[in-house]
Amino acid sequence: MTTPSRAPTTTHRTRVVVVGGGPAGLMASHLLHRAGVDTVVLDHRTVHEIETTHRAGILETDSVRLLTDTGVYGQGPARVLTEGDRHGGIFLRFDGESHHLDFERLVGNSVWLYPQTEVFTDLHRARTRDGGDLHHGVSDVAVHDVTTSPRVTFTDAEGRPHEVLAEVVVGADGSRSACRDLVAGHRRWFREYPFAWFGILCEAPRSSPELVYTRSETGFALISQRTESVQRMYFQCDPAENPDDWSDARIWDELQGRLAGRDGFELIEGPVVSRSVLPFRSFVQTPMRHGRLVLAGDAAHTVPPTGAKGLNLALADVKVLAEVLADALAKDDLDLLDAYTGRALARVWKAQHFSYWMTTMLHRSPGDEGFDDLRQLGELHSLVSSEAGSTYLAEGYTGWPAR
Ligand code: PHB
Repeated sequence: MTTPSRAPTTTHRTRVVVVGGGPAGLMASHLLHRAGVDTVVLDHRTVHEIETTHRAGILETDSVRLLTDTGVYGQGPARVLTEGDRHGGIFLRFDGESHHLDFERLVGNSVWLYPQTEVFTDLHRARTRDGGDLHHGVSDVAVHDVTTSPRVTFTDAEGRPHEVLAEVVVGADGSRSACRDLVAGHRRWFREYPFAWFGILCEAPRSSPELVYTRSETGFALISQRTESVQRMYFQCDPAENPDDWSDARIWDELQGRLAGRDGFELIEGPVVSRSVLPFRSFVQTPMRHGRLVLAGDAAHTVPPTGAKGLNLALADVKVLAEVLADALAKDDLDLLDAYTGRALARVWKAQHFSYWMTTMLHRSPGDEGFDDLRQLGELHSLVSSEAGSTYLAEGYTGWPAR
């Protein structure tokens, strides 16, 4: 959007500017508000855009606790508990059979199926209720002077220019983060994969009470759920796949082929109401702090969706960040922020490994041959037949204790 030349710039002052008003940015703003720290939140996306972008749906126990125990729901019912579905385990399916991993028995823990869009809605309501200074749908967001006195400029939806002066900037601006480029001397680690996920939403009843992670001769598939009548499913595809080339019939053929097995598992079909190809990569940038800028969530790291760690990791970052940042501001000692990178990264690399491991255990890569297939099946059989192996997966999936 172009700036009308005569419109005067409105100057705002706050303690922390949060760039990115998705779940990570809003949770940061919420937790800082509770610690008595004022924030301004900026996002180029509109609330509607964020609410209608489908993302993963599994919350670890600690993520649920962060929603229920920090006043997100005020006096009202905790929607994550009333609308979400508690899942006590998952199914691993391979060689035509499903194997149940009972997380409650293995680690005394469970996860919740509650889509990221709902988490966003809950946090947006909470910040609005608490008078949060939120600006969605803005443009030209630019961050300046992060090592001295941070200033963030933007243009509002009416084309008027603004600047926000703050002590600290939180970069929670997602996987295409602009903030991350401002970290001088950063290091980046990548892992690309030779496949992506084809994701659909369909109108059908549930085929399974819990998620089914499937390894088949023709590649990975995941059966997830949304409601009684809408389901979410994925299958491994070529990253260059065009969703428009896939008719409903072709999608169901592919999924049925991958789910088929001698146990007679029945995959219930229905009209496909949304289809898209999801990016797939592993990425970490360090450090997560530079001067008065700190990064959180996808801005600093992305994981492949196998294992649904992305949002959980972002919320775990933000929990540590809000604690460290409120302390640093209260003591007027920003060097205390250095603790953040170390604490956050310990979990990030565990999650990187976990997502990579689940991915490579369940997907086929071009060029895989007999040895790779049989080794993969050997790994899956040893996992489900070993208490130690199953427990390892259950610990990672439900989430490691906070540090
Ligand atoms: C989802 O329901 O969208 C979902 C669940 C588990 C995953 C990824 C996505 O690992």
